[in-house]
Amino acid sequence: MSEAAAATAPQVVCEGLSRRFGGVQAVDGVSFAVRGGEIFGLLGPNGAGKTTTLRMLVTLLTPDAGRATICGHDVAREGEAVRRCVGYQTGDTQLYERLTPVEFLEYFGRLQGMERGLVRERIASLMEELDFGGYRDRLCGGLSTGQKQRVNIARALLHDPPVLILDEPTSGLDIVSAHFVVSFLERVRAAGRAVIYSTHIMSEVELLCDRIGVIHRGRLLTTGTLPELLAQTGEDGLTRAFLKVIGAGAGEGAR
Ligand SMILES: Nc1ncnc2c1ncn2[C@@H]1O[C@H](COP(=O)(O)OP(=O)(O)OP(=O)(O)O)[C@@H](O)[C@H]1O
Ligand SMILES: [Mg+2]
Repeated sequence: MSEAAAATAPQVVCEGLSRRFGGVQAVDGVSFAVRGGEIFGLLGPNGAGKTTTLRMLVTLLTPDAGRATICGHDVAREGEAVRRCVGYQTGDTQLYERLTPVEFLEYFGRLQGMERGLVRERIASLMEELDFGGYRDRLCGGLSTGQKQRVNIARALLHDPPVLILDEPTSGLDIVSAHFVVSFLERVRAAGRAVIYSTHIMSEVELLCDRIGVIHRGRLLTTGTLPELLAQTGEDGLTRAFLKVIGAGAGEGAR
């Protein structure tokens, strides 16, 4: 592959990814690809299969069928290489309450096998980017939700991964903190990373996502840019377009 082609090759590829829990087909043949410098929004109602899809991509769950690669590494067979390439954060990730943000991040850096000097450098740079220097020495247990979230995003990015996967990162945040996360992700995209972003907040998707995938009952019903989704559905806003896609899916795919 030429250098130019390699530079534009998708960083995340899913093909027919599937996962069942007992009688529930949580994810059913999901396929999509995300390139560096692109934010892919995953939208779906509660229980649609978003978190299950993301957990398979970050090697926390094994797919039953299909395959996925991150930076060319197979999620089912090359877990360690995949984990080096990906940062994962969810809105409900817990911090270690008795550590300060710096101690917490140092601990995670060492767990990742990063060299001590590099960990310190990365913490200093992320502290500036995410602006958490003001509470760097307070215990994580006493931080607000938004403050914790910044530290958690720093944890996901500590090893400087080319792929960032975020599952409802702004849940519980006020509008100022949520806006900070959204603006930060614009910078992450500008740095050439591939981002997958799952949320229920339509305005964030409209603002941020280059392409959107709508998942319902485990199936990816459509993918496209916002204008493509609006054109497909004949609607003039994402919420209505989303509801239309889900409604059509419920009729077609009722099980
Ligand atoms: N560990 C598990 N054991 C059993 N069922 C599960 C498990 N994880 C998810 N499921 C089921 O799989 C389906 C998809 O769940 P998932 O968490 O992926 O949805 P989601 O799209 O992330 O929803 P939400 O918007 O509520 O976070 C649901 O029916 C859920 O109950
Ligand atoms: Mg979820």
